[in-house]
Amino acid sequence: MNQISTRPMPECARRRKQLMRMVGEDAIVVLPSAPPRTRSNDTHYGYRQDSDFWYLSGFPEPEAVLVLVPGRAHGQALLFCRDRDPAREAWDGARAGTDGAVAGYGFDDAYPIADIDDILPGLLEGRRRVFYHFGRDADFDLKMIGWVKRVRAQVKQGAQAPHEFLELGHFLHEMRLFKSREELRLMRRAAQIAAQAHVIAMRTARPGMHEYEIEAAIIHHFRRHDAQLAYESIVGSGANACTLHYVANDALMADGDLLLIDAGAEYRNYASDITRTFPVNGRFSKEQRAIYQLVLDAQTAALAQARPGIAYDAGHHAAVATLSEGLLRLGLLKGTLDKVIADKAYERFYMHKTGHWLGLDVHDVGDYRLAGEFRQLEPGMVFTIEPGLYIAPGSKGVPAKWQGIGVRIEDDVLITRDGHEVLTDDVPRQIDEIEALLASR
Ligand code: GLY
Ligand code: MN
Ligand code: MN
Repeated sequence: MNQISTRPMPECARRRKQLMRMVGEDAIVVLPSAPPRTRSNDTHYGYRQDSDFWYLSGFPEPEAVLVLVPGRAHGQALLFCRDRDPAREAWDGARAGTDGAVAGYGFDDAYPIADIDDILPGLLEGRRRVFYHFGRDADFDLKMIGWVKRVRAQVKQGAQAPHEFLELGHFLHEMRLFKSREELRLMRRAAQIAAQAHVIAMRTARPGMHEYEIEAAIIHHFRRHDAQLAYESIVGSGANACTLHYVANDALMADGDLLLIDAGAEYRNYASDITRTFPVNGRFSKEQRAIYQLVLDAQTAALAQARPGIAYDAGHHAAVATLSEGLLRLGLLKGTLDKVIADKAYERFYMHKTGHWLGLDVHDVGDYRLAGEFRQLEPGMVFTIEPGLYIAPGSKGVPAKWQGIGVRIEDDVLITRDGHEVLTDDVPRQIDEIEALLASR
C-alpha cells in the first residue's frame, strides 16, 4: 500500500476544538478514516486518507476512527487506531500505534481499533446528538447502528441513548470552505507544481506524439516534486477535447490539432485544477484562435466577478453572457442574446458550470447556496474558473471549419480581502504568450 508520509498539521487540534464548540457539549462526533480499496485480488489502490478525517486529525493511517466528545473530563479528542505490530510493519511500513497517536498528533487519548466495540457504546451513552456521515460507508453505518443499539439495550438500567443523528458535514464543510494561511501555503504549492507541469507539456507536445507521452511528462513532474495526481489527467487532442471526461489519452496528435490538458497536482492532500488548450504545432488556426479568444474573454469576465460580496453564480452568468454573445457573433448560434441565454441555447457548446470549490477535494465541500440563494464570496474561499466551448464533430448545422474544436481554460482563484488572487498564473493563457512559448521550443 502506498502511503503518503506527511507531518501532522499543527492546525488540526485547533480545528477539533472549533468543531466541538459548534456541535455543543451534548454531542459526539464519530469519523472513520478512509477504507483501503482493492484494485484487483490482493492489491490495493494507493491509499488516500478521507479529506474530513485528514482535516481534523492529520493522521495518515487506515483503520482509524476519530471521536470527539466535547466537555468529557477524561479527554475530548480520541483516536482509535492500529496497534504497533512489528511483523506487519515489516511488510506495510511503520504505524503510529496508540502512544504515537497521542505523542505525535495531539490526541487526548488513543485506543486500539480492536477495542472499539467495547469502548464506543460507553462514549455514546449520555450524549444526545451524534454527528456522523450516514450513508458514506455502508459497512461503518452498520457498526454505528450496532453501537447505538448496545446503548439502547441499557436504557432500562438507566443509560441514555442518543436520539438525534445529524450530518457532520453541516458544520465541518463550512469550516473547510474557508482556507487558513497554512492551507493556502499548500494550495499555492499544489498550484505551482501543476502550472510548471502544464508549461512542460506545452514544451513537449509535437505532432506525431501520443497523448499519453504528454500525460507521462505531467506525472513525472508531479512525482518529482512530491505531489500526486489530484484526479486522472485529461489529455485530449483534436476532437477528443470535446469529450468532457476523456481519459483514454491514447490518440496520436496530428498537425493542426489543439491539445486540451486538464491536470492538477495534489500536494499534502490539497488539490490544484488547471486546464490549458494549445496548438500542438505551435500556431492557432483562424477558427481555433476565435474560439480560444472567446473562452478567454469569458474567463476574464468571470474573474471580474471574483471579489467579496459578489454572489457565487455571478461569474457563471458573466461567462455565459460573454460566450453567448460571441457564439452569435461567429454565427454558431442564431437569435437574440436574451433568448439564447433564457433558452440556454449556449448549452449546446457550453454544457458545464464555470467552476467549483477547491481544497482537499478537487470538487471541494461547502454549500453554494444559503437559504436557497447563491451565497456571497468571502475572503479565504478558493474555487476554479473554467469556461469552455466544445463543438463536437457532426454538430448539425455547424460549418465544418468549427467542428472538432474543444477549448477550456481553467484557473484556481482565491478570494482576498479586496479582490482575488489567481493561484495558477505561472502558466500562460494569452494567445501571444502561448505561441511565444511554443515558438521557443
Ligand atoms: N478536473 C476536474 C474539473 O475540472 O472539474
Ligand atoms: Mn475544475
Ligand atoms: Mn479541471
